[in-house]
Amino acid sequence: MPMNEANQEVKKEWKPKIVAFCCNWCSYAGADLAGSSRLVYPADVKIIRVPCSCRVNPMFILRAFEKGADGVILCGCHPGDCHYSTGNYYTRRRMTLLFSMLDYIGVEKGRTRVEWVSAAEGVKFSTVMNNFVSKIYELGENVKVGDLRCKE
Ligand code: FES
Repeated sequence: MPMNEANQEVKKEWKPKIVAFCCNWCSYAGADLAGSSRLVYPADVKIIRVPCSCRVNPMFILRAFEKGADGVILCGCHPGDCHYSTGNYYTRRRMTLLFSMLDYIGVEKGRTRVEWVSAAEGVKFSTVMNNFVSKIYELGENVKVGDLRCKE
């Protein structure tokens, strides 16, 4: 088999690893609604349920990238709707800072995202995930953080 074909085959096989942190009260329920409404979103997205978007310590995101994630998305309640009143305001501020820092060290801005998805927005959840996954496919494998990853 010529080298070019072999390379293309490897590229076709590549599946992105995407972590989605979803708050229990809105986004996780939105994901549930998307599932029960039979809306399609890629299986590459692995959902981690958290009590509130502000429960996501920036270290969780760094750890996800360190462990090989190609993209990390954080979903929470719309501003003003957080179950804990102001959790998502903290999230918004924290993640703005973290994502710009990640961009500075070579993790492109497209690999990280914050989205507000309510429990009634199954369609939005599915759309957001589809868009995010296609963006990650565009960006390709996250090789730039290779130095941060643990070598076995
Ligand atoms: Fe959903 Fe706080 S409970 S963002």
